[in-house]
Amino acid sequence: MKKLIAGNWKAYVNTERDADELFSLANSASSSAFDLVLCPPFPYLEEAEKRAKQFAVGAQNISSEKEGAHTGEVTAGVLKDLGVKYAIIGHSERRAEGETDEMVREKMTLALEAGLSPILCVGEHLETRKKGLNAAKDFIQEQLEKDLYKLQTINYKLIIAYEPIWAIGTGVSDKPEDTIVIINFIKEFLKTNGYKREARVLYGGSVNSKNILDFLSHEEIDGALIGRASTNPKEFTAIINAIA
Ligand code: 13P
Repeated sequence: MKKLIAGNWKAYVNTERDADELFSLANSASSSAFDLVLCPPFPYLEEAEKRAKQFAVGAQNISSEKEGAHTGEVTAGVLKDLGVKYAIIGHSERRAEGETDEMVREKMTLALEAGLSPILCVGEHLETRKKGLNAAKDFIQEQLEKDLYKLQTINYKLIIAYEPIWAIGTGVSDKPEDTIVIINFIKEFLKTNGYKREARVLYGGSVNSKNILDFLSHEEIDGALIGRASTNPKEFTAIINAIA
C-alpha cells in the first residue's frame, strides 16, 4: 500500500504567496512513491484544486450540518463541488473547541455521503498516556466506537490518523514502537467491528524531515499527518525528498 502524506496547514499559512510556494513544491514531488494531500485553509482550496498536479486537496474541517441557516459553516457539499477529495475530521484542536464525538460522527456521515474521504483523527491526552498504552487504547476505542457508530456499511477505505494530543506541536513525537502498538490496535478494532475494507492508519504529532522515516519505514504505519513542518518550504521539501 502506498504511504499517504497529508499536510495540515492549520492557520500557519496566511498569504496566497506562501500557499503558492507550497503548491509548487508539492507539484515537484515524485507522485509514484506516495500519495500527497494538502489541506490549506478554506479560502485557498479553490486555487489548490487548480494547481493540483502531484497532490490531492483536503479540507481541515467540515460542517456538521448538511445545509441551511448556519452562518460561517462550510458544508461537505460545497467542498465536493469544488473538487476537494479529503477532509480532516475530529482533529483534537477542533475537539478542544467543543466538537463532540456526536458531531464528529455526523461529519463522518456527511463527508461519506458527499463522497469525500474523511481523515478521522483520534488520540489521547498526556494524562491518559502517562497511565500507559492500555489506557491510551481504551481512550481511542471509545472515540472510534462513537465517531464511527454504525458506519460499518460504508463502502469506503477509511483513513484514521493517530495523533496523540501531547505530541502535536510540542516537538516531542511518539516513539515509533509505541505508535505501532496503537496503530495495530486501531486496525484490529476495525477488523473485529465489521469494517470490511482495509484502513490506512497514519501517525501525526511533531513529524518533521528528521524523524519521518523513523515512522514510515515501518510497514504498519501507512503515512503521516504533518502540521507545522508541512508549511515550512525547506522542511516540506526535505520531507518530500526523504520519502521519495
Ligand atoms: P504538528 O506536526 O505541528 O505537530 O501537528 C500535527 C497535527 O496536528 C496534524 O494534524
